[in-house]
Amino acid sequence: MHQKSKQAFYITTPIYYVNDIPHIGHAYTTVAADIAARYRRLEGYQVFFLTGTDEHGQKVEKAAQERGVDPKSHWDEMVKRFQSLWKRLNISNNDFIRTTEPRHKKVVQKILQDLYDRGEIYSDNYDGWYCIPCERFWTEKDLTDGKCPDCLRSVTEISEKNYFFRMSNYQSWLIENIEKNERFILPPSRRNEILGFLRSPLEDLCISRPKKRLSWGIEIPFDTDYVTYVWFDALINYVSGIEYGSDEELFSTFWPEAIHLIGKDILTTHTVYWPTMLRASGLTPPKMVFAHGWWTVEGKKMSKSLQNVVEPNRLIDTYGVDAVRYFLMREVPFGTDGDFSHAAMVHRINSDLANDLGNLFSRTLSMVVRYLDGLIPTSSNLQEVDRSLQELSGKVLQQLSDQMDDLAFNKALSSVWEMVNATNKYVDETAPWSLAKEEKDRPRLDTVLYQALESLRIIALFIAAFMPSTSEKMWSQLGIEENLWEQNRIENGKWGGLKPGRTVTKPMPLFPRIDPSKISQGA
Ligand code: MSP
Repeated sequence: MHQKSKQAFYITTPIYYVNDIPHIGHAYTTVAADIAARYRRLEGYQVFFLTGTDEHGQKVEKAAQERGVDPKSHWDEMVKRFQSLWKRLNISNNDFIRTTEPRHKKVVQKILQDLYDRGEIYSDNYDGWYCIPCERFWTEKDLTDGKCPDCLRSVTEISEKNYFFRMSNYQSWLIENIEKNERFILPPSRRNEILGFLRSPLEDLCISRPKKRLSWGIEIPFDTDYVTYVWFDALINYVSGIEYGSDEELFSTFWPEAIHLIGKDILTTHTVYWPTMLRASGLTPPKMVFAHGWWTVEGKKMSKSLQNVVEPNRLIDTYGVDAVRYFLMREVPFGTDGDFSHAAMVHRINSDLANDLGNLFSRTLSMVVRYLDGLIPTSSNLQEVDRSLQELSGKVLQQLSDQMDDLAFNKALSSVWEMVNATNKYVDETAPWSLAKEEKDRPRLDTVLYQALESLRIIALFIAAFMPSTSEKMWSQLGIEENLWEQNRIENGKWGGLKPGRTVTKPMPLFPRIDPSKISQGA
């Protein structure tokens, strides 16, 4: 029989510049994408999760030159840093694309040639100003006091032949596309920002750089004196990473579903350049571009010169991987700016993780071990208090669907914590330690402990995408034999899935409490 194919889900992170070491900002988007990917896998979707590195352009070339090394071999080392951090952060990407790979170059050149052949790219003389750090051209009127309007650094006057993509032709199409798809750019404030930007005429996009100025890039196929503008090259990773032009099946399964997670600083490139490039190439725009906010550190902008760059490896060493993942998603709404501080991190760990979840888990399991020899009991004769816990669990199951559709990670976590708190309250109120005193209360003790264990099973399933290793630990200590990652969040998230008769283990602490006085500011 023909099996109905699974629904597809495609999620991407920006590809990170290799000249920088990975910091908390990079980890943020990658963890968010990982959570969305794991979450959809647990709903039975066929998922493709892509991340990678952006290895061309002036910034990258300059950094290699400053170190006096050949760019490619140097970047091989830097790429490993990203890859090993993603391993430590438990990132479940399906592929990792590097823009220096032949499979990517091939697609960039194919798109360029095709656009050129169809008159979508033309050559012209460019007279104006150029900002090297931003790799952007500006006209005289764009400048702010003679400086780059974006970064306020000095600009260089240039006059040279270049190639231009007829982006201006697509302005009205783009506006219409944004207006009719409310979820194309999220959050809504970013959508308004771009609609505002599009009220002024859109200019054509310069997509070449003469080799005499920059040699580190993908050669323009129809003029070998030029390389491709780094953004035109980089954006194409989202289609080259799913083998556009060579694996039709893979590409057509995932492309229409693309969700790009980005930081707010790279909104224009993703919502103006990219959709128009795709349109001109005969491809549909991505389904959604979601721009998240930026992290400051202890109230200050993160920068090398302030020496306050938060290094994710050190955070993992100090707090553990799941605590880092949890903090990033729980502390601020995805889409809003946030502030990282060690005090906030320790507070979240001690209150939400060690106290609320960790204690609930260990006290429940300890009672099952102590009173029932670890055997998972059966429940009977449900009372109001039992039913309301069950109802809450059903409500959270539903709420998570909408919250995760909106990438409202912090709301999803607070819904699950409603369950954690309600289960703590349930245990306090039903007081199994009193029930354990009298043999006649045994059926009630069984019921209460079953309900608490079942709630923990569902909580473990609901947090699996956020804190994969914690969930795995909870899962195995709860004595569940089925593979966690083969569960279905909806089907197995319903009440009653825990099988009586199996044995739980003596609990191991999930999250040790952290003594705030032991955490130095530089941890
Ligand atoms: N290479 C381009 C992206 C090309 S995608 C086709 C690039 N790379 S980057 O390494 O500079 O930045 C990658 C991401 O990190 C961006 O989404 C940016 O918003 C994010 N962040 C950099 N600093 C950040 C914070 N302080 N906080 C949160 N995210 C931040 O841009």
